[in-house]
Amino acid sequence: MAATYAQTYAAACADPESFWLSAAEHLDWGTKPTTAIDETRAPIYGWYPDGILNISYNALDRHVLAGRGASTALIYDSAVLGIKQRFSYSELLAEVAHFAGALRAHGVKQGDRVLIYLPMIPQAHIAMLACARLGAIHSVVFGGFAPKELSARIDDATPAAIITASGGIEPTRRIEYLPAIEEAMNQATHKVPTVIVAHREGFAHERTEYSESSATWHDWEQLVATAQPADAVPVAATHPLYILYTSGTTGAPKGVVRDTGGYAVAMDYSMRNIYGVGPGATMLTASDVGWVVGHSYIVYGPLIAGATTVLYEGKPVGTPDAGAFWRLIDEHNIDVFFTAPTALRAIRKADPQADLLAEHNTGSLKALFVAGERLDPDTYAWARDALGVPVIDNWWQTETGWPIASNPVGLELMECKAGSPTVPVPGYQVEILDSFGEPLPAGAEGNIVIKLPLPPGTLATLWGNDERFIATYLEAFPGYYTTGDSGYLDQDGYLFVMGRTDDVINVSGHRLSTGAMEQILGAHRAVAECAVIGVVDELKGQRPSGYVVLKSGASSDEETLSRELIAMVRKHIGPVADFREVRIVEALPKTRSGKILRKTMRQIADGKPYVVPSTIEDSSVIDDLLPFLRPQGT
Ligand code: COA
Ligand code: AMP
Repeated sequence: MAATYAQTYAAACADPESFWLSAAEHLDWGTKPTTAIDETRAPIYGWYPDGILNISYNALDRHVLAGRGASTALIYDSAVLGIKQRFSYSELLAEVAHFAGALRAHGVKQGDRVLIYLPMIPQAHIAMLACARLGAIHSVVFGGFAPKELSARIDDATPAAIITASGGIEPTRRIEYLPAIEEAMNQATHKVPTVIVAHREGFAHERTEYSESSATWHDWEQLVATAQPADAVPVAATHPLYILYTSGTTGAPKGVVRDTGGYAVAMDYSMRNIYGVGPGATMLTASDVGWVVGHSYIVYGPLIAGATTVLYEGKPVGTPDAGAFWRLIDEHNIDVFFTAPTALRAIRKADPQADLLAEHNTGSLKALFVAGERLDPDTYAWARDALGVPVIDNWWQTETGWPIASNPVGLELMECKAGSPTVPVPGYQVEILDSFGEPLPAGAEGNIVIKLPLPPGTLATLWGNDERFIATYLEAFPGYYTTGDSGYLDQDGYLFVMGRTDDVINVSGHRLSTGAMEQILGAHRAVAECAVIGVVDELKGQRPSGYVVLKSGASSDEETLSRELIAMVRKHIGPVADFREVRIVEALPKTRSGKILRKTMRQIADGKPYVVPSTIEDSSVIDDLLPFLRPQGT
């Protein structure tokens, strides 16, 4: 009989070394590890220090060699183009091996970084797995980021190549990628020698307007046509697999480094024990390969598990309607579906009675998983009642790479409690501490922290910056990793995640930094000071809301100024920032030491009870701000 959650959790806490060595047995290693945890650089821990493997081999070759080459690895379903395409494991392996050969022929080797800026097309899987095949470190950047963000990543990761496509398709517009790539390359100090472009119908093929960059540009198809397939390069388990940039409190994005061996074990473990997905099952994760959810559960997790993964190019609504996900479940016999609460809210708004669901047979579906932001109890109940399957909230972060808390369906389906992502996953010792580092009792909200070492698959460090890694995550509570979220554990050990403790916000499940937006607003010639807060939004969970104080003598034409400021944020961060509202105010509330009271502003805007700190410099500022923060007087 399978071990139940409580026994498994206790076993992982009591002897993590044996627990994770035994979990590693499920993979194919060039050299099997004899040690799980490497404590030699504590508080920075490593995993499987003497293990050697290749993750692309474990995701592809291993299944083909086991006689499963004809099984479907990947289904590409583009609602925006009306294309459906299947790749068996053998076919995907051949694509990946040839593209890896092409990369190698153009000088990409183990340890090189490769920046990937691709829409949701099969080349995204192929590019990521080809890099991994060579031991090159990929860094995927979400298509909604602007050239400026891309150039910051180019300078931090100093890639040997960029892999991109000629464009992406949003429901309302086509986005030419090449001008953005060139602009980013021109802005960056690091000069990227090679760019590989997957051309798509309907997009410009020639670069005529932008010619400053000295890179050599290649056509994906032409490169692959002449390439020799490359074998998988065995790498140390501790070798970085990828860098994924995420937002922090400041403007500079943090390059989360994922190792190879620990991540492969975590993917295998989570697919079996959390998602309950193995060979023969089909998983649809409707996120984007540019986010951590996409890395783990569109690409690596399902393929390591030998399952079928569905790559969906489209939106939850509008491509063509709010029945898009139900069609996918029906057509591809999806067993497990994973999306963000925002997507469910968008569908519910468009189709409150789920009439479009009745038009499809969703009988294959066994569970719906959601992550990326808090699952509000209303949306939870709506989805559960509409679909009639368990709706499983799971809580995690770019940093951890896989769920910290979930209902571990593969181990044991536990009772769901609305508003809770259920329980800490085996390997994560979650505790709640007050600001002095003292443990809090059940029911009391505080900082959610995880006892070190974190389990395998979690961040190894920040790219090129161990000091920032330690300062950001490990210093506030020695011996613990600080998640940046606050919440509580109830009497039954269920975790409730209530929100961030820092200036990170979550818009449509996309993590954004208000600090980065403030930096941009503050650069406008008319702005003396500013604050951006995340306010509750019915559809998107949160939305950024900006407040600016003008320099004396500056023009106060609110409409023009806000148009300029909105355009600046879009230009510098990208449309993904979803920055659409900014107000001119007389003053911002501050403490006597000059700290802007963003938390108080947020509480007022969200209609929550608020306390004005006694350290406030001038309490009348709050009174003057009330009509701006709660325009309807709510
Ligand atoms: N490339 C370029 N631009 C993109 C993009 C991409 N990959 N993804 C989004 N954008 C743009 C949109 O076109 C939009 O631009 P606009 O300001 O010109 O309209 C802007 O970024 C905001 O997009 P979005 O967040 O998608 O908002 P929306 O109002 O267009 O759609 C939802 C609302 C709910 C349908 C959408 O937010 C959604 O699908 N949410 C789920 C997100 C998700 O799955 N997150 C998972 C993270 S785990
Ligand atoms: P990201 O790194 O983009 O995955 O964002 C991580 C942050 O999103 C977390 O620190 C949380 O604040 C929030 N988050 C993700 N999943 C959940 C969830 N299931 N419940 C509540 N918050 C979540």
